[in-house]
Amino acid sequence: MEAVRNEAVNMPDGAVILGIESSCDETAAAVVKNGREVLSNIIYSQIDTHTLYGGVVPEIASRKHIEVIVQVVRKALEEAHLNIEDIDAVAVTYGPGLVGPLLVGVSYAKAYAWGTGKPLIGVHHIEGHIAANFIENKNLEPPFMCLVVSGGHTHLVNVRDYGEYEILGRTMDDAAGEAYDKVARAIGLGYPGGPKIDKAAKTGNPEAIHFPRAHVDGEEYDFSFSGLKSSVLNYLNSCEMKGETVNTADVAASFQAAVVDVLVGNSMKAVDKFGAGKFAIAGGVASNTALREAMEKACAERGVEFFRPSPILCTDNAAMIAGAAYFEYLKGNFAGPTLNAVANLKLGDR
Ligand code: KG4
Ligand code: ZN
Repeated sequence: MEAVRNEAVNMPDGAVILGIESSCDETAAAVVKNGREVLSNIIYSQIDTHTLYGGVVPEIASRKHIEVIVQVVRKALEEAHLNIEDIDAVAVTYGPGLVGPLLVGVSYAKAYAWGTGKPLIGVHHIEGHIAANFIENKNLEPPFMCLVVSGGHTHLVNVRDYGEYEILGRTMDDAAGEAYDKVARAIGLGYPGGPKIDKAAKTGNPEAIHFPRAHVDGEEYDFSFSGLKSSVLNYLNSCEMKGETVNTADVAASFQAAVVDVLVGNSMKAVDKFGAGKFAIAGGVASNTALREAMEKACAERGVEFFRPSPILCTDNAAMIAGAAYFEYLKGNFAGPTLNAVANLKLGDR
């Protein structure tokens, strides 16, 4: 991103930021004060449309974003009881994500900021997910360790300071959420898979089938989920060949147990090694009931403080974008009119 770097902002009454998010299939806008106080949080989900196709269709997502973005932003201001004059900056997700959907948000935010004379802030989507923890936990301050688990990312991150990250581990193949979505499709639960597996697993036996817990040789904090996904597919095939009925709840619970074991196991290895005192989770999969419980327990056993956003702030939303933008606002990190969508933006690139 080409940044227009200004002097750090002098801000007697705090900053009210309008955030816009459109990186995948949610069109969202929110108004957040001082990075932690949500004044409005509007999310227009396209799930019903994409369910018809078994996953997100990028072109359809872009078109839907264009159709609703004006109303979504207007509603965010209305619910916050504010006019555009009351806003100090406009923030937008500029990557990573689907390029078409990202472009809708970026173009809209650029035009809006330019037209109203407000500064523009480009936000990294994963930084947004991490920042959701600041909204929910008013006293949380870096340094802390964070596991970001979403549909496109699985990152174990040392949050050294606001906007300063060290990536300790990442997935070598599928993201955790991607594995949930693919397995859900295979067992006939449909899209989006995460919440459906979460629900089905509640009535299943997590020990019914032993699925593998993959570890990456020599990279103890990295993750790999494609072998687990193949193992579930093999199990389903072998049941079909033997004419056995598949117990969907048991498959969901056993698959979920394998994912949670690896996520918690690697995270706690890093917590122990680095002596982290605070641990947070973020991203869509962080709304998973089993993961929240297991992570809370593992942290409690070590005397580590555990943080997680409420489910609505785990999945994609714009409050987290406005929240993350606040810390860039304080540093005077503003974007220029050349801000562009970057589909594969890396964490830490700015
Ligand atoms: O963060 P997010 O909304 O979008 C991305 O940035 O990718 O995450 C979406 C992912 C999807 O893969 C979805 O299946 C998963 O998060 N997810 C869940 C749950 N809710 C959403 N996975 C497991 N359990 C859930 N309850
Ligand atoms: Zn996300």
